[in-house]
Amino acid sequence: MVDKYVVIGNPIAQSKSPFIHQQFAKQTQQSLDYQKQLVELDGFERFVTTFKAAGGRGCNVTMPFKEQAYAAATQLSPRAKAAGAVNTLTFNDDGTISGDNTDGQGLVGDLLRNKVTLKNARILVLGAGGAARGCILPLLEQQPTKIVIANRTASKADALATQFNESGKVDGCGFEQLSGEFDVIINSTSTSLSGELPAISDDIVLSATCCYDMVYKNEPTAFLAWANKLGVAHTIDGLGMLVGQAAESFRVWRDVMPKIDDVLAQMRKGL
Ligand code: ATR
Repeated sequence: MVDKYVVIGNPIAQSKSPFIHQQFAKQTQQSLDYQKQLVELDGFERFVTTFKAAGGRGCNVTMPFKEQAYAAATQLSPRAKAAGAVNTLTFNDDGTISGDNTDGQGLVGDLLRNKVTLKNARILVLGAGGAARGCILPLLEQQPTKIVIANRTASKADALATQFNESGKVDGCGFEQLSGEFDVIINSTSTSLSGELPAISDDIVLSATCCYDMVYKNEPTAFLAWANKLGVAHTIDGLGMLVGQAAESFRVWRDVMPKIDDVLAQMRKGL
């Protein structure tokens, strides 16, 4: 029987994951089946039990089930623990369920693929929601000088930074308290989805050599358009992060890292 995988969410119709994983399977000459499945808001556990019993090997999890996937896992990777959320479940032969989170590695991999230097960099992360939380540990692993998390609601940035106290490298603040210069600015807020901008100053943005927006569109996002206007040398949207997190999930399941460039180019054309 061909190995079965699925991405679940609510909504799920928009998901590009089946296309991406089918391309990865072709590229690495692996035989697998990957579908998308809408799951009712109260149906997460039922779905996982049924899919697992039917021989499902793994499951990608998107909104709003990442915390439930975290709870369902019998073992968690360090990066899933740090993220407090799981986007990749593996159903092991012995009945255990491994939970992992590949979102942050998707971001880091995309930054490195774009030749952005993270070692000794001063990194600013805008936003302190789930998307920010998932990327702090993978960013720290790249040995930046510091990471500042700035959020509209300062208390959420403080709380997230506290989680990484031990590193001595992570600080949190509100947008109003934000000052200094940064090499890399990562926008993890949902502002670009509605064409809004995070309320930080031009000076902060133009100090950066790279601005990254986790959102992607068929044109520069509001944040990247702003950075472009201010003359920031390198602006990158989140399409590569999307393909990168899929590649990392594929690696977790299949033990081979697919190349993302061709798939990314096809996705870009289809936007
Ligand atoms: P996600 O999982 O995508 O991170 P989330 O957990 O709902 O989603 O977090 C959304 C993030 O975008 C938060 O950091 C939020 O800021 P608050 O904590 O202050 O709500 C941020 N955000 C949303 N709209 C924003 C806006 N108009 N300006 C600035 N930040 C905004």
